[in-house]
Amino acid sequence: MSIASDARFWDKTSRKYARNAVADPAGYERTLDCTREYLTPQSSVLELGCGTGSTALVLAGGVKSYLATDVSPEMISIAESKHADKLVPGLTFETATAETVAGTGYDAILGFNYLHLVRDLPGTLRRIHDLLNDGGVFISKTPCVGDMNPLIRLAIPVMRAIGKAPHVCVLQGGELGTAIDEAGFEILTSESHNTKGNEPRPFIVARKR
Ligand SMILES: C[S@@+](CC[C@H](N)C(=O)[O-])C[C@H]1O[C@@H](n2cnc3c(N)ncnc32)[C@H](O)[C@@H]1O
Repeated sequence: MSIASDARFWDKTSRKYARNAVADPAGYERTLDCTREYLTPQSSVLELGCGTGSTALVLAGGVKSYLATDVSPEMISIAESKHADKLVPGLTFETATAETVAGTGYDAILGFNYLHLVRDLPGTLRRIHDLLNDGGVFISKTPCVGDMNPLIRLAIPVMRAIGKAPHVCVLQGGELGTAIDEAGFEILTSESHNTKGNEPRPFIVARKR
């Protein structure tokens, strides 16, 4: 299994993903508001794992440039058609990962519901660190499967075997914080934005040291 098989999984899931409603709209709004606190009209922003572009279309209007990327060409194709209906200056979409995206010098890098899907978490975090300007911020929200009901952990390999789940890294919140710190970041904020249920999905803002 490889990044190419991840892209195929998400390609196949993309239309269904695009139809799904946000599970916790108030929690999502809180994440958007907290993220905006770190963005300015001068910000150059990179989003990783942007999916069908919903967050990019909301946040890009408030910054100078916003490159929204995803490993799945089908996700990017849906995002581009949404963008064609509602053009936002400075917003571009591209099929890319942290490892393949060109350029550096971002003021903020965003990754929502994404970090648990990467195959080499320390390597990806180091790459994100390299892509940021000094003092730039990495803002993420990540499902921590290691803190969830053990039945979910047991179900994931079974679901993967039948093609119903992607590659998922089983992380606990503490391990995620340590990995971000060890990649050269200072964690400024780690909080829960859930307003429904208690799924462990910390919102973390980390500044490049
Ligand atoms: C759960 S969806 C989240 C989408 C969006 N960020 C959101 O919060 O709705 C995960 C997205 O990450 C993408 N993805 C998975 N692994 C990736 C990787 N290694 N690099 C970039 N994107 C990846 C998938 O294609 C998918 O669009």
